[in-house]
This record gives sequence, C-alpha cells and structure tokens, in this order.
Amino acid sequence: MAESMKGLKRSNRCTEVSNQNIGETVTVMGWVQKRRNLGSLIFVDLRDRSGILQIVFDEKDVGADGFKKAETIRNEFVLAVVGRVEKREGAVNENLKTGDIEIRANSLRILSESQTPPFPVEDSETIRDEVRLKYRYLDLRRPRLQRNLKLRSDVTTLVRSFMADEGFIEIETPMLTKSTPEGARDYLVPSRVHPGNFYALPQSPQIFKQLLMCSGFDRYLQITKCFRDEDLRADRQPEFTQIDMELSFVDVDDVIDVNERLLKHLWKKVLGVDIPTPFKRMTWQEAMDRYGSDKPDTRFGMELKDVSDIVAGCGFGVFTGALENGGSVRAINANGQGAMPRKKIDALVDFAKGYGAKGLAYVAINEDGTLKSSFAKFMTEDEMNRLVERLEGKPGDLLLFAADKNKIVYEVLGALRLEIAKNLGLLDKDTYNFLWITEFPLLEYSEEENRYVAMHHPFTMPMEEDIELLETDPGKARAKAYDIVLNGTELGGGSVRIHQADIQEKMFDVIGLEKEVAEERFGFLLTAFKYGVPPHAGLAYGLDRLVMHMVKEDNIRDVIAFPKVKDASCLMSEAPNVVDEKQLEELYIKSLAGDES
Ligand code: AMO
Ligand code: AMP
Repeated sequence: MAESMKGLKRSNRCTEVSNQNIGETVTVMGWVQKRRNLGSLIFVDLRDRSGILQIVFDEKDVGADGFKKAETIRNEFVLAVVGRVEKREGAVNENLKTGDIEIRANSLRILSESQTPPFPVEDSETIRDEVRLKYRYLDLRRPRLQRNLKLRSDVTTLVRSFMADEGFIEIETPMLTKSTPEGARDYLVPSRVHPGNFYALPQSPQIFKQLLMCSGFDRYLQITKCFRDEDLRADRQPEFTQIDMELSFVDVDDVIDVNERLLKHLWKKVLGVDIPTPFKRMTWQEAMDRYGSDKPDTRFGMELKDVSDIVAGCGFGVFTGALENGGSVRAINANGQGAMPRKKIDALVDFAKGYGAKGLAYVAINEDGTLKSSFAKFMTEDEMNRLVERLEGKPGDLLLFAADKNKIVYEVLGALRLEIAKNLGLLDKDTYNFLWITEFPLLEYSEEENRYVAMHHPFTMPMEEDIELLETDPGKARAKAYDIVLNGTELGGGSVRIHQADIQEKMFDVIGLEKEVAEERFGFLLTAFKYGVPPHAGLAYGLDRLVMHMVKEDNIRDVIAFPKVKDASCLMSEAPNVVDEKQLEELYIKSLAGDES
C-alpha cells in the first residue's frame, strides 16, 4: 500500500551521508536496488540519483510492525527510511561511496510498490535495446544514463554562463515556421486555420538568427531543438539540440576564438582536462587528401597517398581506367598488417565495396622484403618499388589501393583507415584532437539534380579571392565556412554569411534558385538585408554529439532522455501513430497510406 509523505522531509540524498554523520538520524528516500533477507536482519541497498546507501532493518530498532513491512520490500519499491547512521558492521564495500556506513532504520514508509521490472536496473550490456527503450523511464534509472544526463545539464549551464559573460543574449526563435535551408527533409505541421497550408519545424534557427543580427542584437545564443527528417545513424537523431550562435561585426577568426575558449572552458570545468589552444586548422582540401574525410580522426596516421603519377603508365587496367575517367589511385599503409590472412583482407574488400569501391588492390610486404600483391603481374619492378617507397612501406606492412573517381576514393580509403584503426584498437578515448576544417568548397555538384547546391547553406560567404569564380568556375570557389571536428566527429559548423545583395544574387543564380522562388522561400530575410545588415557569422554545435564525446559514449541515444530508434519511432510512446479521422478532417487532410497496396 502506498504511503504518503505527510510529516516527512528528506534530509539527505543517499550518498550525501558519510562517516562524518555517524550517530546522526537521517531521512533518506529512494528505490530498492537490492534486498537480502537474513531472517533476523534485512539489508536493503537504497538508490537515488546520487548513488547507493545500505539500510539495515532490525526488529529491535524498527519494531515488529516495521519489520513485517520491511519483509514485503521488493526491488524498485520506493521507500522513505528514517534511521541512524552507523559504521558498517559487515565488510566495507570499497565500490560504494557509502561503503563504510549503513543506516539502522527505525521507521519505514513504503511510498510505492513496484511490479517486478522487465529488466534489472543496472549497467549490464545483456538487455536488448528494444526492451530498454520501451521502458526508457526504467532504463534512465541506470547510473550511467543518470550520469550522462547530469553532465549534459552541467554543459548547458556552463555554456549559458560562459556565453553570457561574453556578451551573448539568449533569444528563442519559433518552432512553427517556414522551411530552413539545411538540406534535409522538413517535418511539416498542418495548419487548421489555413487549410492546405503547413508550418515546417526548424532544421535550424539559421534565418531567424541572421534576422536578429539585422535587429542589432549583436551576439545571439540559443540552445534549441532542431528537426531533420533524414536517415538516422549512431550520431544522428530526427530531433536534436543545437548550441546555436551568431555574431555581428566579425570574421572567421573571431568566431573561432570565442569557440576555442568555450570548448577549453567546458573541458576544464566538466572533465578536468586541459585542452591546448589554439586548435589545429586544416583546409578541406588537405583533410580530403590526407584523410579522405572532411572530419578526419587525427588520433592515428595511416594517411592517404596519391600514387596516380606512379601508376599512370602501368599495365593494370583498373588503375589506368580510373585515371582516364578523371579519377585517381590512392592508397594507405596499414602498418604491421602484412600478415593479415586472406579472409580478413577479403572482409576489408567487402567493407570497401560497401562504400562504393569496385574492389581493393593490395600489396603485402613480407618480412623478407618480397612483395605479395593482387596486381604485381601488371607492374614493372620499378613501379612496385616506387609504390612501396611512396607509402613508406616496411617489411610486415599492408598497402591498400583504391582506384576510382576522387569522391569514391576518398570515401573508401577514409572509411577503411577508420575501420582498420578501430579493429587495431588505435582509437584512444582519452585523447581529444580538436581540429578546425576551413575553406570548404562553396558548392557541391548534385548529379541527381543536375545542378550545384550549397555545401553548407546558400547564405554562406565565398572567400573574397574566389568571388569571381562564381561566374567562371563555381565548382572551384571556396567558402568562408568552418567545421569543428573532434576525433573524427563533426561537432559543429558555421560560416561567415553573405551580407551583400549582389553576392547573394550571384549565389542564388549559381545554385539555380530563381528569383521568385528565393523571394517566396526567404524573401523576408532578403528584404531585411535592405534595411541595414551588419556583417555577421555564426556556428552551431550538435549538443548531443558534444556530450556524447564528453561521456565517451558511442551512440547519441545514450545522452538523450527519450531518443528515437532507426526508423524515427519512439518505442516507448509509440510515436508516430495514426490519428482520428476527425482530427485529419479538421486539418483538411486525407491519408493515402495503404492506398498503394
Ligand atoms: P549544421 O547543419 O552543420 O549547421 O548543423 C550543426 C551541427 O548540428 C549537429 N547535427 C545533428 N546532430 C544530431 N542529429 C542530427 N540529425 C544532426 N544534424 C546536425 C552536428 C552539426 O555539426 N545553421 C547551421 C549552423 C551555422 O551555419 O551557424 C547548421 O545548422 O553536430
Ligand atoms: P577485377 O579486374 O575486377 O577482377 O579486379 C582485379 C583486382 O583489382 C581485384 O583484386 C580487385 O579487388 C581489384 N580492384 C578492382 N577494382 C578496383 C578499384 N576500383 N580499386 C582498387 N582495386 C580494384
């Protein structure tokens, strides 16, 4: 039977009691982690968000009725216990903060009972994710998730205070709005009042924060939800949180400076780790050439090497064919992996194919210096020697080659070096390699749409020296855009914005956005720019990803209280779901689902 709180007041959280309190009477409340009934004594591990405290029920202290009540206790019951803090009589538990004390209960209230939970509340890896997520509220009782969410809260608190000290003002922007140009699909919300019209949930506050710069707020901050209907991955959710900022009268270095100090502050305050500033900077081109990725993990080497010049005249059609098609041949050196069994190499080839490779060519350098290779028969000895030399191959090394269009070669080798590093345990979670990637291409050619699209978004400023390229060779223009990368994850990104009408117009031209369409989509921003717009720039972090790295989790779900699974559904609330016909009618909507069957 559930009892009330009447007349009771919690005096301490479980682990706020220590051997300093011996002899005192305390009132603690929490959930039953574990219960052992020894006949004349009942031991209970009581858990709250701070941790665990041992309670002892002895009929001598708690009385006959109290003891009877204690006998009914089961896991996850919610208890209030009043008792005396004593030195632990049994063996001290070194694993617990409160391992040298216990509470001798002299009164017990069962505030609520619990059915047998579908899984024990503990950090074990054996419970299926589906079950955990269905009962997320129970899963969230686990110490690890409690720690993650507490740290997340610490991070947002620190961000707010740091940014306030830097002169940032926190301003909320609308959730019911118009499509924002971040490149994903929108989540739409039908309007009841305007039949056939829809709001879009923001993919980011991009346009509004630029408007706030027009309004003179100068330095804006918001920690806010963003919504993107895109395929989920380990570091992507359909709704996620950004730490979003925008600054006026600044250039790239100003944004980078405040953000380096912010990250340094967070790492110091939250993790006690000193991260050296300034961070390394690398242009996008260098990142692609050396790591095959615009978010390189620089905790290990295995850098890409271009060998196109060496193989240009060779007899291996796979290589020369790729070069004739305007592609390249590049390779990595998996140091010390020369003895990798055929089966494992085949697995790497399959892995590479998953990233679009047509195959993977290799050279294994035997311990005696001789070579074993899938393509040696097509090469001269000199060509082979030069390949080994370019890759700094030593006996025992494995060289892996990909030949294709540049984009595919980068992607394949970029992914491969990560996969190999992961397999070899080279990814040290205590190393924090922060890196700015700069000078992104302004545009990306979309084969699908047969036109250029903005790589970041269409308000991103080209580099001054590349503005002319917009008319002559737009694909070569670089942007004043930057990403902050940590150990191979893009934590955040931003850019200097275009604040000149003529450049904006050129940009729309290049991406084939007609004047009327631009006007219809973000005319209010373009109009605002006609009334005095300061030069401005900004950046947004994915808060979830940031916290994920700080707590060393591999999945973004572990830092979000109520996350969604791969198909964007919530296993607990079962959202999304069907709604009443009547609701749809009010919204002038008819569902076509099932019509195609
Ligand atoms: P961008 O689109 O790069 O930039 O997003 C900024 C950061 O948000 C995080 N992020 C995500 N996190 C979890 N799940 C997702 N689906 C997801 N999508 C993005 C990433 C990313 O680096 N308005 C611009 C910023 C600017 O220019 O100021 C923007 O939204 O960590
Ligand atoms: P194939 O001519 O397709 O039988 O391939 C001959 C060898 O070259 C095999 O070992 C393939 O794995 C490898 N190979 C095929 N295509 C590529 C490619 N695009 N890049 C690197 N190696 C490849």
